[in-house]
Amino acid sequence: MKGSLVMLKRICFVLALVLFSVVAAQTNHQPTPTQAQEPNYRNNKCVACHTQITQPVALSNRYFEWHSSVHRDAGVSCEKCHGGDPAATDKTRAHVGILPYSNAQSKIHYRNVATTCKSCHQGITDTFLESKHYQNLKATGLGPSCSTCHAHMATEVVLSPQQTSSLCAYCHNTINGALPPRPEISEKAEAVMHALNRADVAVAWAASLLRESDMKRLNVAVERVQVTAAQGMLKDAKFTWHSFNLEMTLKKADEAFTTAMKAKEELGKKLAH
Ligand code: HEC
Ligand code: HEC
Ligand code: HEC
Ligand code: HEC
Ligand code: HEC
Repeated sequence: MKGSLVMLKRICFVLALVLFSVVAAQTNHQPTPTQAQEPNYRNNKCVACHTQITQPVALSNRYFEWHSSVHRDAGVSCEKCHGGDPAATDKTRAHVGILPYSNAQSKIHYRNVATTCKSCHQGITDTFLESKHYQNLKATGLGPSCSTCHAHMATEVVLSPQQTSSLCAYCHNTINGALPPRPEISEKAEAVMHALNRADVAVAWAASLLRESDMKRLNVAVERVQVTAAQGMLKDAKFTWHSFNLEMTLKKADEAFTTAMKAKEELGKKLAH
């Protein structure tokens, strides 16, 4: 048992590296050069200094990852996740309390990162903390944590359905692994990711037709209720995903999809007139 645990830890390490490169290759959220003045960050010395760093590339790229993230757009600066003093211009003083990722006390260490995110994403984090996965992660260091699936600066969801399936299979479907093979877990996870992606697009589609209808001043009260409901169902499905309850997530994602498609059909008919 001990041997297989070591093995599993090794697999996790390799997995982290694989994901790291996937993440690096996939981060494609476009920066917005028009906002180059950084109005939200004028007095933030972390941003001011790190934006100037060009070497080593790995460090420099961390800034760029954040620069192109939803967090930057939302005014979530470096110290919110890393700690330190954003008012200090001097590196040493700014970095007080910041520990490298590999340090078990670091705010971004895989065991602590959920707590760091929790200050702003309470619902999702609570769901995650209650899952068996987190119980296990905490006890043994095994299992995916927030930044396994969300890119470094923690915004993009970086895994395609196939990548998600491989992620799950690493632990749940390996020959002679520490866990009994459960191929259905990775298959279902892939299906759930397809369902979430499909629902994402359907909801956005319906919402854009609703905006178009509003511009044309059509009476779309019923459809508005449907679109709002679909958005709520989708949000709920994403919460449930973080508990790893795959059946329930699939059900909710499909409900969001069906509801959004119904609204889309009706709006399409009204817009065609
Ligand atoms: C005056 C420039 C400067 C300021 C201000 C600054 N940093 Fe850094 N930071 C660096 C440099 C240079 C490195 C590369 C490692 C080194 O030289 O210590 C670095 C490394 C880091 C690392 C990598 C971890 C490590 O220990 O190597 C993190 C995380 C980080 N900075 C976050 C921050 C945050 C958060 C703030 C604001 C609270 C901040 N930095 C403010 C220059 C700065
Ligand atoms: C200081 C508050 C704060 C912290 C800390 C924080 N976030 Fe966020 N996060 C936000 C805000 C604000 C947004 C954008 C608005 C929204 O959609 O909620 C956001 C957006 C996101 C999104 C994208 C949602 C979308 O609709 O595209 C993800 C994923 C995310 N955060 C994950 C994380 C993770 C993982 C961590 C921890 C490493 C974290 N966040 C830490 C405030 C925070
Ligand atoms: C096993 C992979 C995985 C792990 C681990 C994970 N997430 Fe997610 N997360 C996802 C997926 C998949 C979505 C939905 C993607 C989409 O938008 O279609 C998501 C969505 C989100 C969103 C956006 C929700 C919304 O309503 O739009 C936030 C915020 C978030 N995750 C935060 C976190 C935090 C914080 C943690 C750690 C406590 C975490 N995630 C752990 C895969 C994961
Ligand atoms: C929403 C949370 C969040 C924000 C905001 C954020 N980071 Fe990070 N950062 C992380 C996480 C989580 C990791 C480590 C996990 C990973 O690599 O995905 C990380 C990793 C890093 C690393 C590598 C650390 C190491 O010890 O190897 C550096 C450097 C860094 N970030 C710098 C910054 C800078 C500079 C900013 C602001 C311009 C910033 N981060 C903003 C969450 C964040
Ligand atoms: C690093 C290893 C690891 C990875 C990767 C992983 N898991 Fe797990 N998972 C575990 C462990 C350990 C348990 C707890 C086993 C137990 O006690 O039953 C678990 C439990 C589960 C359970 C509960 C099983 C049950 O019958 O109660 C589900 C469902 C699950 N994982 C789904 C997933 C999904 C979906 C993914 C991919 C997104 C995934 N896991 C990725 C290690 C992992």
